Amino acid sequence: MKKSSTLRVLLVCLPALFLLASCCSSVFSDEAMEKKIDAVMEQLTLDEKIALIHAQSKFSSAGVPRLGIPELWTDDGPHGVRPETLWDQWTSALWTSDSCTAYPVLSSLAATWDKDLARLYGRSVGEEARYRKKNVLLGPGVNICRTPLCGRNFEYMGEDPFLAGKMSVPYIQGLQSNGVAACVKHYALNDQEFERHHTNVHVDDRALYEIYLPAFKMAVQEGGAWSLMSSYNLYQNQYVSHNSRLLKDILKGEWGWDGAVISDWGAVHETKGAAEGGLDLEFGSHTNGVDKNTANAYDYYYLALPYKAGLLEGKYSQEDLNDKVRRVLRLNFRTLKGDYNGSFCSPEHFADSRKIGSSGIVLLKNAGGVLPMRADARKIVVLGENAIRPMVVGGSSSSLKTKYEISPLQGIKDAYPDAEVVYQRAYQGEPKLTGNYNYGLYDLTDPRSDKQLLADALAAVEGADYVIFFGGLNKNKYQDCEGRDRTDYHLPYGQDGVIAALAAARPDMIYVNLSGSPVAMPFTDDVAAILQGWYLGSETGHALADVLTGKVNPSGKLPFTFPRELADGPIKTERQYPGIEETKGTWQAYYDEGIYVGYRWYDKQDVTPLWAFGYGLSYTTFEYGKASLSSGTMGKQMTVKVPVTNTGTVAGAEVVQLYVSACEPAVDRPVKELKGFEKVWLEPGQTKTVSITFDRDALARFDADAHQWVVDAGSYKALVAASSRDIRAEASFRVK
Ligand code: GLC
Repeated sequence: MKKSSTLRVLLVCLPALFLLASCCSSVFSDEAMEKKIDAVMEQLTLDEKIALIHAQSKFSSAGVPRLGIPELWTDDGPHGVRPETLWDQWTSALWTSDSCTAYPVLSSLAATWDKDLARLYGRSVGEEARYRKKNVLLGPGVNICRTPLCGRNFEYMGEDPFLAGKMSVPYIQGLQSNGVAACVKHYALNDQEFERHHTNVHVDDRALYEIYLPAFKMAVQEGGAWSLMSSYNLYQNQYVSHNSRLLKDILKGEWGWDGAVISDWGAVHETKGAAEGGLDLEFGSHTNGVDKNTANAYDYYYLALPYKAGLLEGKYSQEDLNDKVRRVLRLNFRTLKGDYNGSFCSPEHFADSRKIGSSGIVLLKNAGGVLPMRADARKIVVLGENAIRPMVVGGSSSSLKTKYEISPLQGIKDAYPDAEVVYQRAYQGEPKLTGNYNYGLYDLTDPRSDKQLLADALAAVEGADYVIFFGGLNKNKYQDCEGRDRTDYHLPYGQDGVIAALAAARPDMIYVNLSGSPVAMPFTDDVAAILQGWYLGSETGHALADVLTGKVNPSGKLPFTFPRELADGPIKTERQYPGIEETKGTWQAYYDEGIYVGYRWYDKQDVTPLWAFGYGLSYTTFEYGKASLSSGTMGKQMTVKVPVTNTGTVAGAEVVQLYVSACEPAVDRPVKELKGFEKVWLEPGQTKTVSITFDRDALARFDADAHQWVVDAGSYKALVAASSRDIRAEASFRVK
């Protein structure tokens, strides 16, 4: 080979060699990484830049083989690593090696109010994603539970942005400690599934900044999220994926974020908006994000050939292009920890899933101490379709194929190997899974009539030591499922009547509600005990049995309010929800309730909910002493201390909540707002002093006219609470 060509080869390969060398180090410093990005930017051709900023397959985008930059692989979460799909299809590739650990849904993680557990969750699921060679796990979701009917409440972390934000931060940090990027979603205002691709959200700036953005802001500023997903809906008549106010002005401008915005799948609709609106990486174009598929030449993505043509004509700025490319390279490089391979389906991961699951279960009622169940039970009758229904599959994009799933019925049998455990269906819902899956399908069809099913259940409960009814929702369409909202706040399949009939025969019945959203419970007074049991993944039955038997003392607290009836809530008009089709094909949803979402609404209206935000019982009791403040006047920070005693007979954990209340607010404000929480474990008789620090910003309200946060002088109260409706101690302070 001639000398000059050797030199040329060396020059061309040099960056790749340099790149390879630096990739082998486990984690390179930000500075070194930025230098590498600069070096690569010098090398990239226009075609290579274009290739980097849009998908090449259903879940991957291209790298730059010539420079040794690997392609970028994404996959759904957030509850586990989605099974492999075919290259350009939604349908499963039917691999036999991608059955994962299925973790509890995120609304149940939020119900643990345990930041350490959220970190464990993120690290654990991140190890699985790393093992499956994914650079990006598409989660967590932190949209707000604005209506109990939203089909994806189960994937999100409740009605309060502070709880959602503070619980997502450790999940993100745990996940990213594996070199797997979080992709926090769906930024922003995607708080319903109804017509999610065609709904233009109208929300005032105060509600935007105080309710709908804070969890995302914490995720990027405290959590250090490496990517965010732009949502399907419109805001200010512009698709969010093209919305420079949300993506450029706020996210990258005000918040100074250096990560990459990945579009939701099919959320991009034009080149100009995608080019100039702050989007960095286009996925899933020409699909509906669920099952509609376009056999798609990826070159016809909006940021592919059409964008290249526009750039060559000088229609679009090189600066916007280079910013996208830099952010995508940064995302790629941040995930290139070369010496680490994660782990998959380990006993530790299933144990993590069980621990997280049992910690999120919320004890709502326990009349006469019917729970925990006695160990010497001889006959246990388990009722309800949800006792046997697989729930890991379903719900759409968060659906998983798991190595195994312990049903509630199996969990009871495993906990009582010597007892007679009788199962009766009691009701029949939809016996098959509806949705776009070709794995984990099941058919629970029971030939008996509804009448017969109930009669058989009533006959079975005679002489049982315990009767446990597993009901609730499921992951079918129009239940807890992406792409559609529920159309009824009450339980489906006539469960209200079935539960009432069975409770009439057995008033000591235990009702376990499996759902990811609030539901009506008109039978609350008829049953002895009620648990909110969520969807808990692979170890569902074991996690539920751990709590029912007292092996685990329940410590969950609700991340959202359960109103008695939907009408008690803030949504009063069709224009608020689901919105009105003012022009053909486009719905306008008006968030007229403003900041009064969840407990903020029920407090303001003084409407008593069935179960309050932050509520949850224990098998023990806790007493709170007097609250004391580090100062009577707010400086930069304030610490509230309160002694908490376990006054019962078993060890347990209490979530101490701190709400702040302005005494004579200058403007209309919520009665109180959550600004701190700490979970504390106490042996019987033990007292610990819990301290919660909050800073001046916690007192701020957003002044939309001035477009700034304002802390009003005046007097405030620090409310120390066991729930948003159970204030146990308070202390006053002033702001000068
Ligand atoms: C879906 C969902 C999003 C998911 C993505 C990929 O439509 O909205 O949460 O991560 O597309 O499946």
